[in-house]
Amino acid sequence: MKISTTTNDPWHCVADMQVYFVHDSLQTRLPEAVESKIERARQAGDFPSRQEGTLSFYPESEQGCAAGRVLVIGLGKGDLNGEVFRVAGGRIAQKVKKIKTARIVAVLPEELEYPAREMSQYIVEGLILGSYQFGKYKTVEEDDEPRNLISELIIAATVQGDILAAMKRGLTGAESACQARDMANEPGNHWTAEDFAVYARKLAAEFDMPCKILGKSELRKLKMGGLLGVNQGTTVPPRLIMLEYRTGRQVPVLMLVGKGLTFDSGGISLKPSAGMQDMKYDMCGGAAVLAVMAALGRERPDNVDVVAVVPATDNMPGSGALKPGDIIRQYNGKTVEIISTDAEGRLILADALSYGIKRFKPEVVIDLATLTGAVIVGLGHHTTGLMSNDDDLVQRLCRAGEQSAEPVWRLPLGKEYSKQLKSQTADLKNVGGKGAGTITAGAFLQEFITDTKWAHLDIAGTAWNFTEKSYVPPKGPSGVGVRLLLELIREWQL
Ligand code: BES
Ligand code: MN
Ligand code: ZN
Repeated sequence: MKISTTTNDPWHCVADMQVYFVHDSLQTRLPEAVESKIERARQAGDFPSRQEGTLSFYPESEQGCAAGRVLVIGLGKGDLNGEVFRVAGGRIAQKVKKIKTARIVAVLPEELEYPAREMSQYIVEGLILGSYQFGKYKTVEEDDEPRNLISELIIAATVQGDILAAMKRGLTGAESACQARDMANEPGNHWTAEDFAVYARKLAAEFDMPCKILGKSELRKLKMGGLLGVNQGTTVPPRLIMLEYRTGRQVPVLMLVGKGLTFDSGGISLKPSAGMQDMKYDMCGGAAVLAVMAALGRERPDNVDVVAVVPATDNMPGSGALKPGDIIRQYNGKTVEIISTDAEGRLILADALSYGIKRFKPEVVIDLATLTGAVIVGLGHHTTGLMSNDDDLVQRLCRAGEQSAEPVWRLPLGKEYSKQLKSQTADLKNVGGKGAGTITAGAFLQEFITDTKWAHLDIAGTAWNFTEKSYVPPKGPSGVGVRLLLELIREWQL
């Protein structure tokens, strides 16, 4: 999508659609013809200013409007914040999906007491996220439903300031999140560990980033018993993917680790078949991490180096598969008794974490994983679970969560929980018993963190079927984590 700004009188801006915003109690300046349509809608008992309300009309030629259509979006009656504008952007997208619109002029309600910069960023975010569709495997177009055709968004505002830069930030965040959704939507047979590697290499070439991919024989040499163990039951070889964003300056290193489990059948501890198809999404952590790298490649911040590590495999019950009772040795030497082969995420993450920490010596580590069903019991599909050994990092992640509307909530760690992982025969077992399933998974990962600052994000509830909004689809992957981490990096200070 092309983005630009204009200071021209919006009413005379040539477009397929002009978009205006109204608020229930705060006054916005509108062309007379728009005011009178709103007035008529109000008289008819409709409330276009409400958050759910929209009003659209085809202006008469004598009114001098340069657009074929006018859309009025209600901002509701509440306080203004970023999310109000994101939702508004999403609602433009929902409207546009049903009609043929290529070029849109959105008229910024500058009269409102809210920074024009932020309005612009969030409208762009909502519009792009809301326009998302995944049609790759549909061979026939659905009836005559027009595809989303927005090719250009122009924001009309009298103060230009840094509006274009803000729009670019919105574009980068949202397009990167859509890239993560694209990866996640790929089915297991079209998105294997090698597909992850190909994608990383493509980003490396596009943005000139160092990239290193380890295959099975290298993983064997390094003795990554976790990733290799999970991979035993499948015919598809594993990969460990590493991609680096370097500023060339003396700045701290942030390491992002994403679970790249391309399909989770559960292995020998087979999952029930109902709903198993959703386990193609078990790679959303890895997808988010690579999408963040793409965003950094576009935005080129100079305040932090970022390295991404994605352990990738599927989890299948083939005849060589790991069995309950087996004992494996992780990369860092710790032995693990397998209680359930379905608790596989922690095994591949453990190797990626300890190897990545040794190789890249990061100041801060953040991992993202669809790790436990239990986090859905605790937090539903609305909030990501956060566990960490650093209060300051927690605070910054919580802030970034609020800012990006990808909220996170901290759960405790502690020796009581770690104790649940004691094994009779090995250093650890991979399941911590009945209670606190999300926390014991976090406590397992903690065993592979040395004294580095670290946060673990359990996105099992939010990576797909996330809280439905105008810009988040009710079903399917959300791209969660991408805008959250990008916000954290944009605000980065150590
Ligand atoms: N990928 C799943 C977690 C998951 C479950 C994500 C449901 C989204 C929805 C993970 O590998 C898993 O199977 N976890 C087990 C752990 C258990 C065996 C200790 C779980 O949550 O049931
Ligand atoms: Mn599993
Ligand atoms: Zn899994």
